[in-house]
Amino acid sequence: MKLAVIGTGYVGLVSGVCFSDIGNDVTCVDKMSQKIEMLQQGEVPIYEPELKELIKKNAEAGRLRFTTDLTSAVGNADIVILAVGTPSMPSGEANLSYIMEAAKEVALAMNGHKIIMTKSTVPVGTNEKIGSLIRGNTAYPVSVASVPEFLREGSAVRDTMNPDRIVIGSDCEDARQALAELHKTLTDNILFTDVRSAEMIKYASNAFLATKISFINEIANICEKVGADVTQVAVGMGHDNRIGSSFLKAGIGYGGSCFPKDTEALIQIAGHVDYEFKLLKSVVEVNRDQRFNVIRKLESILDTLNGKTIAIWGLAFKPETDDVRDAPAFEIITSLLQRGASVKAYDPIATSNFMQKLNSPRIEYCDSAEEAALRADALCVLTEWKEFQKISPATIQSWLKSPNLIDGRNMYKEEEVANTGLIYYSVGRPNMNKGVREKTPQLLF
Ligand code: UDX
Repeated sequence: MKLAVIGTGYVGLVSGVCFSDIGNDVTCVDKMSQKIEMLQQGEVPIYEPELKELIKKNAEAGRLRFTTDLTSAVGNADIVILAVGTPSMPSGEANLSYIMEAAKEVALAMNGHKIIMTKSTVPVGTNEKIGSLIRGNTAYPVSVASVPEFLREGSAVRDTMNPDRIVIGSDCEDARQALAELHKTLTDNILFTDVRSAEMIKYASNAFLATKISFINEIANICEKVGADVTQVAVGMGHDNRIGSSFLKAGIGYGGSCFPKDTEALIQIAGHVDYEFKLLKSVVEVNRDQRFNVIRKLESILDTLNGKTIAIWGLAFKPETDDVRDAPAFEIITSLLQRGASVKAYDPIATSNFMQKLNSPRIEYCDSAEEAALRADALCVLTEWKEFQKISPATIQSWLKSPNLIDGRNMYKEEEVANTGLIYYSVGRPNMNKGVREKTPQLLF
């Protein structure tokens, strides 16, 4: 099939590349000429495992190309994939100006019937507006479908090639058939829905996963007070098939380009129809507060942060990505600076992205984990990179000035920490807290 993908962000680029890899003819379009030139030279603007190799392979095979020329890309395509960003506005609502602008440009470039497949995450009802906008700007027939994207950063290629399900939301039979054909080599599990339900499935899925994370984080906070271990609790819960074991890792809360944006957007969507989504509001609030546990734990060990040097390992919102959007590290580092601390930070690949957003004479960006930890008063692990997991707590202790380790991602096991002199705090595992003045919690009942 001949595809034009509008937008070469995470979703557009990965989808375009993967569709070319399964034999389709794909043209990826973006307004940013610098980005297109980079891609034409085989350079990838984001860090994503396997992506660079796939771009090279499919570009060389002549199935994949990059251009700023939307008109010719749309003209040559049977299916046009809309994958432009829908960032949050200050109110939390999704900003639809980019996708509407793209839809209008697509309409003006049409030279025959096209199927429009929207992959961007958009509020319920948006695809109907896209359909009307296109029909108002072209005489050619158009079939619109919402096909939400569920890929995760860091495993985007794998997720796209092996999706749990494909949701095709459309009222047009030709679009359903063509899009089922397009996805059939990826999975047998194709669900057909109406357009609005497909749009809602994306928001509801992300909101539910965010809810699981905030839920387990609150359980972790209670575990710390009652002397239970949240990792054991999560395993025990996860063995119930109705609950499932994924997204029950307690930590410093979720970040990234999707969960924070989509939870806020769903709260707004509900608000527009006079419904207060109380549960989701709490999920967001719990998530916002969870990252400050790192500060509270540091203060309980060091008394004051003023004048202290704190090492930070991990700036990306999760491992295997250089994405720092809504990364907990921002608020944690900002709070440390506000409290008079200096920061030595290291991330295997996200440092330059992070530096562009947060700079201060009191932040030193380091070239290695060791350099960041050397002679610091405490080390906080904010992203569970494999590189960090390989460094033993005993080595960490030898680098630090004071042996304080706050493990915000429960990266270390009990036996690894047991024989060190580290003062160790993790999340929801109070029995592993070592060297802290706190006593085993007294139950009040
Ligand atoms: C997410 C959704 O998983 C994906 O389906 C959607 O398309 C986009 O948003 P992504 O943001 O790439 O993907 O990462 P994900 O692996 O889902 O993690 C999101 C955040 O939740 C990260 O900050 C991660 O550290 C955190 N998380 C995840 C937890 O704190 N605990 C968990 O158990 C799982």
